[in-house]
Amino acid sequence: MNRRDFFKYSIAVGSVFALSPMLTSCAGVHRKSFYENHGGFTMPDLPEKTTRILSYAALSPSGHNTQPWIVKIKSPSEIIIQSDKTRWLPEVDPTNRETFLSLSAFAETLCLASHAVGFDAEISIIAEDLKDSDIFQVKLNEMPTKNERYLGFIKNRVTTRTDFDKKEIKTEQINEVLNIEPEHIEYFPLESNGGKWIAENLPEAVKQQSFNNDKQEELSHWLRFSKSEAKERGDGITAEALGLNWFARFVWYNFYSQKSAMEDSFRNRGIDTAREQVENCSGFVVLTSKDNSLDSIFDSGRLYQKIGLKLTELGIAHHTMSQLLEEEPWSSEIKSNLKIDQPVQFVIRIGYGEDSKPSIRRPVRSFVVS
Ligand SMILES: Cc1cc2nc3c(=O)[nH]c(=O)nc-3n(C[C@H](O)[C@H](O)[C@H](O)COP(=O)(O)O)c2cc1C
Repeated sequence: MNRRDFFKYSIAVGSVFALSPMLTSCAGVHRKSFYENHGGFTMPDLPEKTTRILSYAALSPSGHNTQPWIVKIKSPSEIIIQSDKTRWLPEVDPTNRETFLSLSAFAETLCLASHAVGFDAEISIIAEDLKDSDIFQVKLNEMPTKNERYLGFIKNRVTTRTDFDKKEIKTEQINEVLNIEPEHIEYFPLESNGGKWIAENLPEAVKQQSFNNDKQEELSHWLRFSKSEAKERGDGITAEALGLNWFARFVWYNFYSQKSAMEDSFRNRGIDTAREQVENCSGFVVLTSKDNSLDSIFDSGRLYQKIGLKLTELGIAHHTMSQLLEEEPWSSEIKSNLKIDQPVQFVIRIGYGEDSKPSIRRPVRSFVVS
């Protein structure tokens, strides 16, 4: 690496969504669930298998890594998934669409982990509005274990924010992804018209969002500039999750604070980073939904997790970038520019690259209530 690159990779610390193309990656890091890290554990009134299932569900993706779930145990076979209002993101997600997507991804992981542990999870939507607090009812019925290999994918799935290789994704691999749900998944290679539109416009949307003080301040509350705070809270975005190299991590933990995130230089570096990220990938997977009903958003959140797990299985890195859906005019114009009829729920940058270090999580006991 030459001197210029060293600085480029070392000091490029900016907004979380953009931030990151640092050099360190963690090939071969295998995430353990909190449950495994602690040698398994039991919780009062909670069957051991339910604790295990929830420890996998907790590894689900969520916007800003807020982990907006509360799990209410009604009986050994019935739980309610609730939305934790203290973890909503009213600035970037005023309608709660993204929180609902995160909760739906959680429900999908819970379902897959249940199968692997020996339960069928019957999930019904009880929410009538994106801002309700009781969201899903889950009934667990014993059955023979199936698809245990999914537990490995759940543990290893990770959002990777480093630069990816630009080489094309193998046709058979992209077909495997599209075949999960052809009517709601589109792929735009970087060089396609749609891919070019995303790559040109995403950094502009990041710029607009980064220079909105309320949105930037909201983000700053989820950036973990202290290792002890990260350990204590188990949520938010750390330097490791951003894929920063050792020097940038040192700067991040020793010289940065929430206040730094409000400085122009921090915001500008984030925008530069976003530009590099979109230029360094194979293309973008776009997930759509039939409409904007709760049922359709639920399906889309579940699909997002299925796609993340499939990409993990195929060894393709992924990075969700939501600003085009959060900022106007892009959120209104995305459908016509991509020539898509249905509402867009996710824009995901993909490519071959080494996965980042898995992000932090809260322990099961912190989100279970009786
Ligand atoms: C609805 C939703 C929106 C997201 N938007 C972004 C985004 O704009 N930029 C980004 O870097 N990550 C985004 N993510 C990924 C989360 O930041 C990520 O899931 C979280 O930090 C946990 O990390 P993990 O996926 O590596 O487990 C999003 C995830 C969800 C579910």
